[in-house]
Amino acid sequence: DKGGYKHFMAKEIAEQPTVLQGALAHYIDTDTMQVQLPDPGLDFGKVERLSLVACGTAYLACMVAKYWFEQHARLPVEVDVASEFRYREPPVPKGTVALFVSQSGETADTLAALRYMDGRADSILSVVNVPESSIARESDLPLPTLAGAEIGVASTKAFTCQLTTLAMLVLKAAQDRGEMSAEDVAEKLKLLRALPGMINQALNIESQTQALAGELAEARDILFLGRGQMYPLAHEGALKLKEISYIHAEAYASGELKHGPIALVDPNVPVIVMAPRDALFEKTVSNMQEVMARGGKVLLIADEKGAQEAGEGTWRTLIMPEVDDFLAPILYAIPAQLLAYHTAVAKGTDVDQPRNLAKSVTVE
Ligand code: F6R
Repeated sequence: DKGGYKHFMAKEIAEQPTVLQGALAHYIDTDTMQVQLPDPGLDFGKVERLSLVACGTAYLACMVAKYWFEQHARLPVEVDVASEFRYREPPVPKGTVALFVSQSGETADTLAALRYMDGRADSILSVVNVPESSIARESDLPLPTLAGAEIGVASTKAFTCQLTTLAMLVLKAAQDRGEMSAEDVAEKLKLLRALPGMINQALNIESQTQALAGELAEARDILFLGRGQMYPLAHEGALKLKEISYIHAEAYASGELKHGPIALVDPNVPVIVMAPRDALFEKTVSNMQEVMARGGKVLLIADEKGAQEAGEGTWRTLIMPEVDDFLAPILYAIPAQLLAYHTAVAKGTDVDQPRNLAKSVTVE
């Protein structure tokens, strides 16, 4: 049941404030304002290294989590695409905890990677949407993402719920490792609880993305740029767009552009820049200006102040709500999803059932 929406994907994008609220309620003890994990829990004070493994969008959630765990919990993290993991037979140092992220919980490569880590890692965590799935059942600590059934092949609400669940783990880890006080954690949890409302606000850019989509649909190639924790989001924007609109899209770390990809810039290649006003905003903007100086057609996604500071000369600007650095990756998933969705609709592709793709990839 599409609930009055034209596609499951549209419905699932719109559901995000509601499902996120449910996920937050599940993981936050509101009396103490602390993170509560299901039994048997985990003491991150004893963890020396995290190994995160997943595929596709779930892998991009892991990439965001790497920035978070390293910055906030000072915990070393490695991230791998599941299909590149087990055949390499990676050595697993003592003190390693493995974490697998999967919407379906049945992705063949992710499950095989989990089985490789069983007996090698100290403990196996998973962040899964389907609680009775193989990955959940074979983990020591399965954490549900509580996104509800996701029907559209392109992952939307599962991604933001994965990020939210991972954010909970990051805060727990930061506290266990003495990098954040109980007050600091409570402060971040308060911000997280305001996130569903901010996502509602961010969903207001829908009519503007729709207005842009016709022009984006004409492009043969589109570039996405981001820095720091926005780099995985640039990848998410590109993946979503490729998947459902069949337009060739690539993501680059903004700072990597001048090492080659800037040669691709010309007036026919839209360049989408994800630039919340975080610690790296100025650097992202200077990379964006390099693109514009070469005739690039820039779509800037930033908040009001950011757009005032840097919006001059861009092709278009999408204005997002102001957001704390920590939560920016979750909020900026919304424009990534909406741009892909409306571009695909403008092209007339089959949004919910894109060609060549399956919702659950149970073969390697
Ligand atoms: C992209 C998408 C895929 C999945 C990937 C992993 O929109 O949906 O990239 O994220 O196939 O699937 P799960 O999360 O079920 O392991």
